[in-house]
Amino acid sequence: MDALVRLLQLLVLLLTLPLHIMALLGFWEPLCKSYFPYLMAVLAAKTNRKMEGKKRELFSQIKGLAGASGKVALLELGCGTGANFQFYPSGCRITCLDPNPNFEKFLTKSMAENRHLEYERFVVAFGEDMKQLADGSMDVVVCTLVLCSVQSPRKVLQEVHRVLRPVLRLPICLPSVTLSFWPPFENVSPVVPTQSREARHTRSGRAAGAGAQEASRSRTGLLPELEDQHLPLHREGGLFFFWEHVAEPRGSWAFLWQQVAEPTWKHIGDGCRLTRETWKDLESAQFSELQMERQPPPFKWLPVGPHIMGKAVK
Ligand SMILES: C[S@@+](CC[C@H](N)C(=O)[O-])C[C@H]1O[C@@H](n2cnc3c(N)ncnc32)[C@H](O)[C@@H]1O
Repeated sequence: MDALVRLLQLLVLLLTLPLHIMALLGFWEPLCKSYFPYLMAVLAAKTNRKMEGKKRELFSQIKGLAGASGKVALLELGCGTGANFQFYPSGCRITCLDPNPNFEKFLTKSMAENRHLEYERFVVAFGEDMKQLADGSMDVVVCTLVLCSVQSPRKVLQEVHRVLRPVLRLPICLPSVTLSFWPPFENVSPVVPTQSREARHTRSGRAAGAGAQEASRSRTGLLPELEDQHLPLHREGGLFFFWEHVAEPRGSWAFLWQQVAEPTWKHIGDGCRLTRETWKDLESAQFSELQMERQPPPFKWLPVGPHIMGKAVK
């Protein structure tokens, strides 16, 4: 099988020899960086039409993930033309990151068409090294059709994990006994970190059941000074949403064709690898939770294989 792959690769290489010579001499990459945004503008529009339902379903989960600012700080990693903007709910503050500055023209157009979002900045950088972005600064990171093209998916995922907001838990100064025997609030320090609305509801629910005398202390059952701060006690870590094409099953004919096409496809598709088993990188990254589903490719005429879509929690 390996010998057959090598033979067919050589055949395709000979058929596309000028491209490989240009790549070897360093002429191809600048050319590719210029035309690729135009190609993606066409492809992304077609892809969005095919994937509209699935993308809407995935990104609808962004609603309600707002951080302390009341906005969702969202990093679009490998933003390309900004094809996902139309699916994000209002209340998102977007940071775009892409190593190819030639996407800016298309990105500006997408921004103008999606005024329900706020745009923070466009960072020209690689996902493997996002030093411009502070630790824990993002509520959400989105990455679609990018991990196939990066140099190191492992390093990108490490960086995604770093920039996502951390989980916030009850501080040590709030003993767990306080929650078990609700509501002996008198002994609780009012210094409390940020808390999700859900957690506030849990607390107020328990307070309501604890007797009219306690409930009358405040509307929610929290001490008035806590209520005024609108501070949560627990908040989930940041979320990573992804949609990526991946390798066909090993040993299949489809995988063989992916192997044959890859050395040439990589130049045409700006570094895109067809045989990446990206789910393995996701599984071995440091996320606390991972959910994904396998999907058929949106276009049969492209050599890209099945896709994986899902989310991971920091
Ligand atoms: C196939 S396009 C997808 C664009 C967009 N995310 C979409 O879904 O339409 C791949 C994108 O990944 C970007 N990219 C390539 N290498 C990258 C890297 N190391 N870090 C971040 N982005 C990268 C490319 O410049 C390009 O914008």
